[in-house]
Amino acid sequence: MCDSIKEEAKMDARRFIEEQIGEIKRTVGKGIAINALSGGVDSSVVTVLGHRAIGNQLRTVFIENGLMRQGEPQKVVKLFSDLGIPVQLVDARRDFLDALKGLTDPEEKRNAITHTFYSKVFSRLVRESGATYLLHGTILTDIEETVAGIKRQHNILSQIGIDPEKEYGYQVLEPLKTLRKDGVREVARALGLLPEMTQRIPFPGPALATRIIGEVTEERLETVREATAVVEEELADSGAFQYMAILLNDRSTGIKNGKREFGQIIVVRCIHSLDARTADPVELPWSKLKRICERITAIHGVNRCLYDLTPKPPATIEYI
Ligand code: XMP
Repeated sequence: MCDSIKEEAKMDARRFIEEQIGEIKRTVGKGIAINALSGGVDSSVVTVLGHRAIGNQLRTVFIENGLMRQGEPQKVVKLFSDLGIPVQLVDARRDFLDALKGLTDPEEKRNAITHTFYSKVFSRLVRESGATYLLHGTILTDIEETVAGIKRQHNILSQIGIDPEKEYGYQVLEPLKTLRKDGVREVARALGLLPEMTQRIPFPGPALATRIIGEVTEERLETVREATAVVEEELADSGAFQYMAILLNDRSTGIKNGKREFGQIIVVRCIHSLDARTADPVELPWSKLKRICERITAIHGVNRCLYDLTPKPPATIEYI
């Protein structure tokens, strides 16, 4: 970006921040608001905007759904506590895993997560906090894709016909709903968030469940969690928009420790994209791919590793 365009983007971001802080203040007044932080750039920006607007009238919770990456809940809570923003860590692993038990259909899995999140865990937290406002990190792409019927995003309620006020007793505020991912990152930088947060690759609300085909069990989560750690470590310097590991529901024959094994298959996906509406596979060096393959097939029960060459469209970025 040339300097004058950069300056303009910064100015826009600063104006956006002032407007949104004012809007949150005016709307919430002396009330209580709540927001769920996932640690992604969208919910991180909402958390900081909310705290700047209404301070401790905003309760921020991190819901540990058991579908997160290695050490993620603790890392996120620590990052925000370093910024002086208290975050309550809520252990809801059992609720989510029980709700996902036996489900294999992608939409049913997403529904189970949405339902558990809002109707069970979050509504209890809202009741306990006395909040009547919910700050949510919905962005423009989420709305467009949900309205277009491409995907039922985890975080859109009113667009899919649920009235949150009637159903859960709160009003939803979506301060980022006019921005795309690149705009959110600009705002995050203008808010002074660390590169660790502003540069974080997107990670979906339903978390690792979007990367498990078939049933989500603790054992399968552990496999995809380990593979994710390998992929994220190996591709951290790739400059890609997003990279991930996916666990297929098929098995394949392989040889481990001199014995035939009918093992798990992991797919690696690494894409370039500007705003997640379209995406292209990254042409990774062969040596890098081979190293990732070696490390992934060293994971217990995994004996095959594939690289996904499909752009979006026709594929989506996630697998469910
Ligand atoms: P897809 O798979 O639809 O993903 O091509 C586009 C972008 O959105 C992310 N994604 C989600 N983010 N809740 C989210 O917050 C979701 O349910 C969800 N599903 C997909 C995905 O990681 C990609 O960046």
